[in-house]
Amino acid sequence: MKIGVVGCGFVGSTAAYAMVMQGVGREIVLVDRSQARAVAEADDIRHAVPFAHPLEIRAGAYADLAGSKAVVICAGVNQQPGETRLQLLARNAAVFAEVVPQVLMHAPEAILVVATNPVDVMTHLATHFAKQCGLETSRVLGSGTTLDTARFRSLLASHCGVDSHHVHADVCGEHGDSEVLAWSLASIGGMPLTEFAKRRGVELNQEIRNAIDTGVRRAAYTIISGKGATYYGIGSALSRIVDVILHDQRAILTVCTPAPFVAGVSDVTLSMPRLVGGDGVLASFDPPLDADELAGLARSAGVIREALDSLDV
Ligand code: 2OP
Repeated sequence: MKIGVVGCGFVGSTAAYAMVMQGVGREIVLVDRSQARAVAEADDIRHAVPFAHPLEIRAGAYADLAGSKAVVICAGVNQQPGETRLQLLARNAAVFAEVVPQVLMHAPEAILVVATNPVDVMTHLATHFAKQCGLETSRVLGSGTTLDTARFRSLLASHCGVDSHHVHADVCGEHGDSEVLAWSLASIGGMPLTEFAKRRGVELNQEIRNAIDTGVRRAAYTIISGKGATYYGIGSALSRIVDVILHDQRAILTVCTPAPFVAGVSDVTLSMPRLVGGDGVLASFDPPLDADELAGLARSAGVIREALDSLDV
């Protein structure tokens, strides 16, 4: 039950903290190009252990990732206010060329969970390195729109006055500006969202839908302009993904992984609802989106393919 976290900035260290608070795994190894940073984060988080769940957390080198069941990769730069995720591409691709082969060399049995942005492209790139090492691509996945799905569910939940755990609503496509909120498939308590809203007397007009759409799509920009970075949401999403892998929970998560063909676009990595378990991505589903959502998915796949073309992968 060993977990590696590579990159101990806000996202990596918050993911490790969330794992400690939720009791995910027995041992966490933090790796950062700054050993001092990794040691400091490990020390700080270790002091939370007596208030949470018993596990070991320590700083280490790549070689200490050996035997990890999952390795979360958060290395790279993150967005500055006003910057899009895709604008990070060249800088983070260079970081991945150094980091991912090292992780694969020392922890070839681990499931790789990529969080670095632009996460769809970086996951595709990580898969490319995995293939070169002869590893199954299903063992590499990215956090994708797991966080956007959580944002969508939480906004719908508070609008409808119901616990977010009982809202089923997914965001597909790019973890970025072109993502697609699958409104047509949203449901609460086994009822289509519109039916639930009607029965509860909850207004769900276009203006409200637009506000929720903007709240999801623009969340990172708003948070980054207010506090410089996002980390609690993504850290919790990463902890959940790792828990699903460690315990082979077979959860449906909107993680990203390469697909041979999506909405008319070949060889592209983006998020769809996927069955996730101990061996990574076990199955992918094409949900029956409506025509507008499908057109949005095609646009989103095109945006990612264009970014991949710029990297030649
Ligand atoms: C987020 O959506 C920045 O991708 C990060 O919070």
